Amino acid sequence: MKLVFWKKSGGAAGQVDFNRLPRHIAIILDGNGRWAKRRGLPRTAGHKVGAETFRTIATYCRDIGLEYLTVYAFSTENWKRPKDEVETIMVLLKRYLLEAIETMERDNVRLRFMGDLLALNDELKALVAECNAISDRLTGCQCNICINYGGRAELVHAAQSFAEDCIAGSVKPGDLTEDIFEKYLYSAGIPSPDLLIRPGGELRLSNFLLWQCAYAEFYLTDVLWPDFSKEELHKAIAAYQSRNRRYGAVT
Ligand code: FPP
Repeated sequence: MKLVFWKKSGGAAGQVDFNRLPRHIAIILDGNGRWAKRRGLPRTAGHKVGAETFRTIATYCRDIGLEYLTVYAFSTENWKRPKDEVETIMVLLKRYLLEAIETMERDNVRLRFMGDLLALNDELKALVAECNAISDRLTGCQCNICINYGGRAELVHAAQSFAEDCIAGSVKPGDLTEDIFEKYLYSAGIPSPDLLIRPGGELRLSNFLLWQCAYAEFYLTDVLWPDFSKEELHKAIAAYQSRNRRYGAVT
């Protein structure tokens, strides 16, 4: 007998019921480097196409009425990459934010950011602040971009903030509940992802939304992020819709 420890999602595209969409989809943008390498291109070329794919998928998520999309764009560990690769990703983020500032009001798309943003350069910090200010006036689809984000760092940051409030006397350690702890996370006020999509073939969470993905349904595919398409998104949503979410209970 062959034991299957983890079955990757795949197969034929199912039918998506657009009246039963997940509220929140999270995506690990993975496979840019390999996509470029397979074409004899520098890794940075993969990130450029990956940024285009992100535009297409984010716009489509808005069009179908998704409430929340969260993407892992740059992790706390990604600083270890070659300097030119890190610089390219920062330039792509800058370009995206500049464009967003021009279009988000028209498109009614809110942009939020999760991660330790203090490490970003001043230009990016200012753009993030501008996007946040515009988003405060909007009500539409919320796109969360995780930059300099790590799930463990987020939990440590939340624990520190809670401890500071305890010292200040506004809360007591014994008052802490899951609901209260969530208010200290970068994702405060955002419902947990229903569906986590990981393109790129890896079978791990890579320090992404460790708390928030406790009950997320996973969709893992070998398709590399630059090749990810609306059809692939449909497959992921159809797979999600075929699952029986029990949250530890029995049906
Ligand atoms: C992972 O692929 C991808 C990244 C670390 C960077 C993702 C960044 C972008 C797509 C550009 C900017 C983003 C936005 C939201 C505008 P990888 O390089 O680890 O791929 P590999 O596993 O094939 O090496």
